[in-house]
Amino acid sequence: MKNHTIKLFLIECLVLFCIIVILSFRYFTLVDVSIDPITPLPLSSIPMGQYNNAAVVSNGEPCARIGTDILKNGGNSVDAAIGTLLCDSVVCPDLTGIGGGFLMTIYNRTTNTSLFINARETAPGAANYTMYDSDPTKSLTGMEIRPLAVAVPGVIRGIWVSYNLYGGGVSWASLIKPTIQLCEEGIVVSKRLGANINAARDLILKTRLKEYFVNNHTGELLKPGDTYTMAKLGQTLRVIANEGANSIYAGSLTPNLVYDLQSSGGIITKKDFIDYS
Ligand SMILES: *[C@@H]1O[C@H](CO)[C@@H](O)[C@H](O)[C@H]1NC(C)=O
Ligand SMILES: *[C@@H]1O[C@H](CO)[C@@H](O)[C@H](O)[C@H]1NC(C)=O
Ligand SMILES: *[C@@H]1O[C@H](CO)[C@@H](O)[C@H](O)[C@H]1NC(C)=O
Ligand SMILES: *[C@@H]1O[C@H](CO)[C@@H](O)[C@H](O)[C@H]1NC(C)=O
Repeated sequence: MKNHTIKLFLIECLVLFCIIVILSFRYFTLVDVSIDPITPLPLSSIPMGQYNNAAVVSNGEPCARIGTDILKNGGNSVDAAIGTLLCDSVVCPDLTGIGGGFLMTIYNRTTNTSLFINARETAPGAANYTMYDSDPTKSLTGMEIRPLAVAVPGVIRGIWVSYNLYGGGVSWASLIKPTIQLCEEGIVVSKRLGANINAARDLILKTRLKEYFVNNHTGELLKPGDTYTMAKLGQTLRVIANEGANSIYAGSLTPNLVYDLQSSGGIITKKDFIDYS
C-alpha cells in the first residue's frame, strides 16, 4: 500500500515535470515566434475601445487632446496626427523630437488602400563605410554626445509633405501653435520622463540639457510633477509655423543649424539639408 502511494506520487511528479517542460517549451517557442518579423504579433492585452467618430492615441498626456481639437476644428486625421506628433516631440523629449524622423501609414477607407510616408533621418553626404573604423564607439547613441552619428532630420519635411498632400483642413500654423504654447508655458514631467531624466543624470549634468532638466533653485534634477519650458525650441517652432518646412531645410534656420552641428563636431552640411527628401 505504502509502496503503491510512493509510486503514484512519483508518477504524479513525472507528469507535473512533463507539463512544466511542455509549458516552458511552448513559452520559449512562443517567444521565438514573436521575434520573427514575418509572423504577426499576438493581439495587444490593452482593451479595445470603440468610438463613434474618431480616436487619437498619443504618448504625451496633453497630446491626444491637441489631436482631438484639430479634428473638431475641421482638420482630418493627417492634420491631427501632425499636431499630436509635434506635441509628443516636446512632452516626450526622452523618446522623440523634431531632430529625428518618422514613418506614417495612411489608410484610405474609400479605396481600401494604404500609403506610406518614409521621413526617417538620413546619413549625411560625407558619411562613409570607414568613418567609425578608428573608433567604433563614435557610432553609438546613448549617454554621450556623438556628433558624428547625428543624421539629417526628417520630421519637419515629412509633416510638411504629409500636410500638403493629404492634410489641410486647418492651417499649417494652427497645427504647431499648441506645441509652441506648451514650450513657452511649461510642460509637466511625467513619471516616465522623471525616471529617464534620473537615468540620464550624467549626460544632463555635463551638457546644455541641464538648462532644461535641472531645477534652477535647488540644483536638483527635475522630478515627476515638476515643469520645464523649452523657450528656444518654441522660437524655432514659431519660425517653422510662419515660414514652413523650408525654414529648416533651405531657409532662415538652416545656417544656424549647420553652424551648431559643425561646431560640435558633426559633418552635416547645408547641402545635406537642401537635398533631404
Ligand atoms: C481616398 O481616395 C479617394 C478616391 O480615390 C480620394 O478621392 C480621396 O482624396 C482619398 N483620400 C485621401 C486622404 O487621400
Ligand atoms: C480591403 O482589402 C483587403 C485586402 O485586399 C480585403 O481583404 C478586405 O476585404 C477589403 N476590405 C473592404 C472593406 O473592402
Ligand atoms: C569618411 O568619413 C570620415 C568622417 O567624415 C572622414 O574623416 C574620412 O576622411 C572619410 N573617409 C573617406 C575614405 O572618404
Ligand atoms: C533655468 O533658468 C533659465 C534662464 O532663466 C531658463 O532658461 C530655464 O528654463 C530654467 N530651467 C528650468 C528647469 O526652469
